[in-house]
Amino acid sequence: MKGKILVAGGTGFIGSHTTVELQNAGYEVVIVDNLSNSNADVINGIEHITGVRPTFYNADCTDIDAMRSLFEREQGIRGIIDFAASKAVGESVQKPILYYRNNLNILLNLLDLMPEFGVKGFVFSSSCTVYGEPDHNPITEDAPTKKATSPYGATKQVSEDIIADVIRSGSPIKAILLRYFNPIGAHPTAEIGELPNGVPANLVPYLTQTAIGVRKELSVFGNDYPTPDGTCIRDFINVVDLAKAHVVALERMLEDKSDKPLEVFNIGTGNGVSVQQLLDAFERATGVSVPHKYVERRQGDIVQIWADPKRANEVLGWKAEATLDDTMLSAWKWQLKLRERGIM
Ligand code: NAD
Ligand code: WQD
Repeated sequence: MKGKILVAGGTGFIGSHTTVELQNAGYEVVIVDNLSNSNADVINGIEHITGVRPTFYNADCTDIDAMRSLFEREQGIRGIIDFAASKAVGESVQKPILYYRNNLNILLNLLDLMPEFGVKGFVFSSSCTVYGEPDHNPITEDAPTKKATSPYGATKQVSEDIIADVIRSGSPIKAILLRYFNPIGAHPTAEIGELPNGVPANLVPYLTQTAIGVRKELSVFGNDYPTPDGTCIRDFINVVDLAKAHVVALERMLEDKSDKPLEVFNIGTGNGVSVQQLLDAFERATGVSVPHKYVERRQGDIVQIWADPKRANEVLGWKAEATLDDTMLSAWKWQLKLRERGIM
């Protein structure tokens, strides 16, 4: 065993896939999640894939007493990956206090307790949302961040600043900020995936729900953008590839591969893919056609953004590997599994 890692938000979409990769790499995983946006059944899915059942605490990370007693019981935690957050951009505009309170208190509690319990490494789930609309693509980590367009985005910017301030103050920890682009897909076994809550705001869950008939048709928001086919461009990153980036980031800190206490990496493929191209890839990979219509632009959407992942490729030795077609197929297999289970 390489040691014990606390995965906050570990029953969520990215946290569950990362738990699998951590266990595959020989780490012992302790998950803490309050199940506000996930389900405890995910633990079974993780166990089916890896043969190992992670320890699970149903607790709220904003509750510092609960978190302290977790650290007291689970002696020897070497690293934390902090996925726990509220993440719906639209909801954050309606409920800013909820978003600031939840996302920032989780972070503050974990950073506060780390030195007390000798935890060395911290990986934080940041987002390409910190860049706003880029002046140039692909975008590098040194590009300026722009004013957040939602309270959710603001929590990511403020969180990055808080981590930097805590490290600057001399806290004996190391941190890596991973700026994810657009995570999509599911584990190829279809044992775990994204569990959408209500009507999905994100493209891929809406697309797969349309393909299976839960939704009537997919609305493509805007086909008059200044892009080759008129639809927006994103960097869609396979969730298993994304999960693997966390393992290498953690290892870098725990094995002192760098003397920098704080580093930031873009986690994307480096390829800009349009909404139309993604739709075409889904239909090609699955043979299932998706009823769709072209509608007005969605307010607040970035026109185009994709990552320059060179730093992650060269420094972390990490690279996105999955093809877009395989990723779409994994999303479809997961949607079929949800149907089989009577969930969607
Ligand atoms: P998710 O909602 O599936 O997972 C987050 C988990 O955190 C959920 O299981 C939820 O129950 C839990 N949680 C929330 N508040 C909690 C609290 N107070 N205490 C304990 N658990 C709590 O989301 P995800 O897509 O897996 O995202 C993980 C992280 O990555 C988030 O921080 C998100 O902001 C960030 N991120 C996500 C995306 C994306 O598109 N999915 C992109 C960039 C960054
Ligand atoms: C992708 C593209 C839509 C739905 C969001 C957050 C961002 C980050 C990732 C966390 C856009 C189009 C979508 C639909 C559509 N999350 N679309 N029809 O907006 O790039 O990023 O998730 O940090 O912060 O904002 O992702 O999946 O919502 O949209 O045409 O029904 O698909 O207009 O161009 P987005 P998305």
